[in-house]
Amino acid sequence: MTDLTDRLTAGGELSDDEWRFLIDGSYDRQILFDEADKVRRSHYGTDVYIRGLIEISNFCRNDCLYCGIRRSNADASRYRLTGEEILACCERGYGLGFRTFVLQGGEDSYHTTEWVGKIVSHIKEEYPDCAVTLSLGERPREDYKSWHQAGADRYLLRHETASRSHYEKLHPPDQTYLRRMECLRDLKQLGYQTGAGFMVGSPFQGTEELISDMRFLQAFQPEMVGIGPFIPHHDTPFATYPAGGLERTLTMVALTRLTLPKALIPATTALGTIHPQGRELGLRAGANVVMPNLSPENVRGQYSLYDNKACTGQEAAEGLAALKETVAAAGYRVVVSRGDAVQTA
Ligand code: 5AD
Repeated sequence: MTDLTDRLTAGGELSDDEWRFLIDGSYDRQILFDEADKVRRSHYGTDVYIRGLIEISNFCRNDCLYCGIRRSNADASRYRLTGEEILACCERGYGLGFRTFVLQGGEDSYHTTEWVGKIVSHIKEEYPDCAVTLSLGERPREDYKSWHQAGADRYLLRHETASRSHYEKLHPPDQTYLRRMECLRDLKQLGYQTGAGFMVGSPFQGTEELISDMRFLQAFQPEMVGIGPFIPHHDTPFATYPAGGLERTLTMVALTRLTLPKALIPATTALGTIHPQGRELGLRAGANVVMPNLSPENVRGQYSLYDNKACTGQEAAEGLAALKETVAAAGYRVVVSRGDAVQTA
């Protein structure tokens, strides 16, 4: 097993059978997680970076079959933060020690090029020592460009699945795999630190699809990778599908760390939602980022991508003191820093 993991870390290609073994095989996962942790420590030591997650709108023009804020969900109660509210979140977050703000939202047409650009410039003027990450879905290249010029440093856009046929089973026909990939290429080319990612255990996903995801990561070399279990939302077409498993998700986190030794990999909220120790286990399997919720408390429940989404306690910015203790107990340390990816040689 460790001959395979060594080859992965050295940037080597693996055969389908070798990938199948690493993803599905019966071997001691603790050995894999320890290997991933070793690689993570060689680049990042024990540092855990925190990001203040501000969920700026849950209006969305898309209709992803898995997502609770899809446009067809008439039962979702919609909200949108004002510019002032977003800046107030940053102010509170800065005081708590956050040096990255993530503005995440559905694809909301209210967010014009200018509106988002102004907020980004504002935040960068007020907090020049902070990074701004955007996660606002698919937009024209010109929007990405103007937001990058306004100072946005990073962009998160999960590829969701690197298999085109699988992508088509998770999305309606007007949301295409090719368009998603085009956006990711645009972001990277414009100079963003770019985040891709996928769900584990999404409907119709088999091992072959996960192998495509790993090969995509190897080829695309994103700076960030978000990986979480699929969790059903009761108001979606996938309401009755089972959630992704803990061990399988941790396996994919660890394999991602080995494939991209210098990546920024969050222990996601979804991982923390399916298991009480999900976040710590994610860190111990190669993750090095946590993204506590910095949204105003009254809207947090509404950003409901899946059922029982954790947004209190250590998932919340106010729970940072407790989160620091949990992280320390797991053997790591929350640091006050922008937390950029270490440079690739
Ligand atoms: N379960 C888990 N993750 C989900 N996302 C959306 N819906 C779900 C769900 N039901 C993830 C998608 C998206 C990110 C913002 O949240 O991967 O890119």
